[in-house]
Amino acid sequence: GWWLVAASRAQQVPRPSLSLHSSQGVSLGDTVTLRCHLPQPAAWVELYQDGLLRSYKDMDKHQVMAEFSLVCVKLEDAMKYWCQYRVLEPPGVSEKSVPIELVVTDHRYSPPNISISHEEIVEVGTNVTIQCCNQGYGGIIFLHKDGHSAPLQHRDPRGGGTATFTLFGVTPADSGTYRCSYHPGLLFVSSPLGDSVTLEVTPTPAPPG
Ligand SMILES: *[C@@H]1O[C@H](CO)[C@@H](O)[C@H](O)[C@H]1NC(C)=O
Ligand SMILES: *[C@@H]1O[C@H](CO)[C@@H](O)[C@H](O)[C@H]1NC(C)=O
Repeated sequence: GWWLVAASRAQQVPRPSLSLHSSQGVSLGDTVTLRCHLPQPAAWVELYQDGLLRSYKDMDKHQVMAEFSLVCVKLEDAMKYWCQYRVLEPPGVSEKSVPIELVVTDHRYSPPNISISHEEIVEVGTNVTIQCCNQGYGGIIFLHKDGHSAPLQHRDPRGGGTATFTLFGVTPADSGTYRCSYHPGLLFVSSPLGDSVTLEVTPTPAPPG
């Protein structure tokens, strides 16, 4: 009976949220801070790295945020993280936070090269292709747009080293600066971003009359 009660109570403890504090991407050797934000005070907070308990913090009554610093980030730190917390009365454990992927940039990898099919201003509706190449490094190639934190698209060229990204029927919203990066086989380890290409889309001029 007690276990059933504990289990049903546990489901009523709302999940915390985990955030990553670093102004830019994270590079090898950086210090990053992971913050676990609690919806209510807790007895302690746990940080998990790929399912293993990495660290925990005892909390006092008024704290609703726990900070975990990773000092001098290593390749082994490039993993998935989540936090959860425990309360004593009634005893319970929260749901896991939504996981965060700590992508670590390793500057020992060369940035990928990039080219774009249309160097000039293009009209709405044009199909534009962007090619990125990381000859010899393998892995998955990502297309990024400046101002967006998450990559737009990714391709696995399966050892081919060249990824082709097509922007079908572009609109003015596709205008911007594009760059590539790649993950050389290691899940959350990234090359630096490469050089950029710029796309400028103008609305089609209205037909005369
Ligand atoms: C863009 O690509 C699509 C799909 O391949 C094709 O149907 C369409 O005709 C192309 N548009 C232009 C303007 O080339
Ligand atoms: C980018 O191009 C340069 C010169 O064409 C080449 O030396 C370099 O290896 C290329 N980089 C990658 C990551 O393929």
